[in-house]
Amino acid sequence: MPVTVVIGSQWGDEGKGKIVDLLSEDLDVVARYQGGANAGHTICWDDQEFVLHLVPSGIFHDNTTCVIGNGVVIDPVAVMDEIKTIQDLGYDVEGRLLISHNAHLIMPYHKAVEQARERLRDADAIGTTGRGIGPAYMDKFARTGIRMVDLLDRDTLRAKLTHAIEAKNNLLRSVYGAEELNVDAIVDEYVEFDRLVDPYVTDTTQYLNRALAEGKHVLAEGAQGSLLDVDFGTYPYVTSSHPTVGGCCTGLGVPPTEINRVIGIVKAYSTRVGNGPFPTELDDEAGERLRSVGHEFGATTGRPRRCGWLDLVALRYTAQVNGFTDIAVTKLDVLTGMDELKVATTYRYNGKESARFPSETQTLEKVEPQYETLHGWTADLRQATSFEELPTNAQDYLTFVQDFLGVRISLVSMGPKRTQTITVPPADAPVVA
Ligand code: GDP
Ligand code: IMO
Ligand code: MG
Repeated sequence: MPVTVVIGSQWGDEGKGKIVDLLSEDLDVVARYQGGANAGHTICWDDQEFVLHLVPSGIFHDNTTCVIGNGVVIDPVAVMDEIKTIQDLGYDVEGRLLISHNAHLIMPYHKAVEQARERLRDADAIGTTGRGIGPAYMDKFARTGIRMVDLLDRDTLRAKLTHAIEAKNNLLRSVYGAEELNVDAIVDEYVEFDRLVDPYVTDTTQYLNRALAEGKHVLAEGAQGSLLDVDFGTYPYVTSSHPTVGGCCTGLGVPPTEINRVIGIVKAYSTRVGNGPFPTELDDEAGERLRSVGHEFGATTGRPRRCGWLDLVALRYTAQVNGFTDIAVTKLDVLTGMDELKVATTYRYNGKESARFPSETQTLEKVEPQYETLHGWTADLRQATSFEELPTNAQDYLTFVQDFLGVRISLVSMGPKRTQTITVPPADAPVVA
């Protein structure tokens, strides 16, 4: 059986957690391939709500094995806390959660360096989640990182950590004028982790390839969104990993030839947390309404999310880069009650109209989005059980998006719960022009 990849198509928080949880019911394995505890994936069922940061969104289905791949950067404190909270809810985690021995660790000095750097950048700050993501990936690519496997060997860990903390203290003191960290306290705390993580750490690449050979179906869960990709996003206002489709192969060790479905998660409007260009951002009542009705506050940091109209110029670009086979449109219910809905179809720049998404920030900051205006609807979408039962104007909105992108809509989400979702079978999908 093949690999299905779930990818955020915008700037994150599209509702990936909800869709992965929903699809996991019928899946053997769910594997996270990049990012770290900067992610906040919300799952709602019955009267429960849970925000996952590192553990894959399949964990609430007893028959699903969850994998944290080599491409993820792991804060050992955060992952152990998350495991404990899930266990306290009554779910078995040991034996169902596997963590790659090659995944890199996030240490307190990564967070300290990030804080110091963001403070120094001041007006140019990225507005990170403060989880140490950038500095941890820097160490990985500088080949000075510490990995999960190192946690299992106290002597190696002690030596590597001491060396790393001393080097970072040097940086904190001489470059950032920041406070140094206590070497012994950190080393003493982290050598204790060998006992705690031992039941979970394994060679997940071997596991995943064996699972595929045995005919198991693997769902690869992306974190963040394509426009936060370090190569394809709005650099430098991005995260330090590859949420786009290639990240699945490098972050799990599965070959691209195993991937046969790439689902783009598309929020029915746009949001962004942190700094950086956002062409369709709304600084008016409509934006405020999207934020309050959509509860657009960060699942990780609680920061208000910036809100704006759906940007089809950006979406066509991310559909192209990822090769979406189908898309899931989420939070359609949030648009209910708005008279008019705008969607950006081109950008005007230097007096010219263009269909191109300029991922270079200098240009993107200056483009003026050109909009099509579509009709809104007032009926409560949550009553609908099929595409045909949606209000006609909601159907038209979805059909417009699908035709513009040339990618089939396979799921429509109209509420945070599992049940508040419509599956659109291929034959029922509105016809792509
Ligand atoms: P993720 O990071 O992509 O998993 O998304 P988040 O969990 O950060 O943010 C999505 C938010 O929207 C969460 O609070 C979800 O519970 C909620 N949500 C997901 N789908 C829907 C939907 O269709 N309608 C509404 N109203 N809320 C949704
Ligand atoms: P999920 O998986 C939304 C944003 C931060 C910041 C930039 C860099 O829940 O969709 P980082 O801490 O990664 O170095 O911050 O990326 N960011 C996210 N925005 N959803 C996320 O994850 C995000 N993870 C990082 O706000 O602008
Ligand atoms: Mg989120």
